[in-house]
Amino acid sequence: MSTIDVQGVLQGLLQQVAASDTPREVLKAPEFKQMYGAIAILPAEERGAFGREVNQVKVTVEQAVEARENELESADVVALDVTAPWSVNGTKPQLLPTNQGTQHPLTKELDNVIDIFTRMGFDAIESRQIDDDHHMFGTLNFPEDHPARDGYDTFRTEEGFIPPAHTSTMQHRILKDGKAQLEAGGHIAAISYGRVFRNEDVDATHEHTFYQVEGVYVSKTANLGQMLGTLRSFFETYYGQTLRIKTQPAYFPFVEPGLEFAIEKPAAIGGKTGDWLEMLGCGMIHPNVLREAGIDPTQYRGFAWGGGVERLVMLKYGIEDLRHFEAGKLAFLRKFKS
Ligand code: PHE
Repeated sequence: MSTIDVQGVLQGLLQQVAASDTPREVLKAPEFKQMYGAIAILPAEERGAFGREVNQVKVTVEQAVEARENELESADVVALDVTAPWSVNGTKPQLLPTNQGTQHPLTKELDNVIDIFTRMGFDAIESRQIDDDHHMFGTLNFPEDHPARDGYDTFRTEEGFIPPAHTSTMQHRILKDGKAQLEAGGHIAAISYGRVFRNEDVDATHEHTFYQVEGVYVSKTANLGQMLGTLRSFFETYYGQTLRIKTQPAYFPFVEPGLEFAIEKPAAIGGKTGDWLEMLGCGMIHPNVLREAGIDPTQYRGFAWGGGVERLVMLKYGIEDLRHFEAGKLAFLRKFKS
């Protein structure tokens, strides 16, 4: 028989959890080490039963931690009256302690994505969060009143500005900025990343606010083979395994030909042969888009792609609902604590 009173320890731990503002810390309590240590020195025939009892303690404490975290999260937070007169000498509002903060999963994963592309030689720039019709449509070969404009469910401010519905709004700027480099014998290789906005109904796979990453590459000899190689290499690095890819034709006014790019769902996350997941839109940059930026389409050619970041991350971690990302729920965010 072990000398440890497991049920007594459990009660003690549960009390700590119930009283703590940082209940997850209790999972690191020395009692766990003691109990697990005790298993090894027990006579063989007692180990099984004792081990199961200790594991049960762990599970029970973990459940109590989750429950306590949810309770802390839903505890009433007194709303600040932002319209009240402000005084330098007034009492400061109670804020969450910064040591409980964690990086948002999208920030972390976006860093990862940017890192992969910059190591491939792409420059990275953040996209704008407010833009205009010219960059959203005009420079991207969407004729005035073209029905393809409706596909983007764009918001507009009263002044006519547009919170961009895709990161392709950055293509024209990337092309214009890169022109001199191109003409000096170099190439353009850049990604643009950031928040985009669409006026659509929100459900488990649609949000009004999400993130995209866009890529642009231009040289004298750019071709679809290079584009597919670049994309495959990105996805294989991101998911850490070799992948099968496929494309099918798609229409975007700013590329010709335009393609949808799919990967076979990685086996590591439960994928089977023939489980295709569409990841992004891509294609050869339309001559009109190059011309609009002052680049001669008879001399240079380019490819571009753009796709959502949340999909990548959801797939990697098995997250079932897109709405978690913008919900600000601490229980979700803390799962990505590193
Ligand atoms: N901007 C397109 C979208 O959001 C994706 C895309 C980008 C397609 C670049 C082709 C080239 O739907």
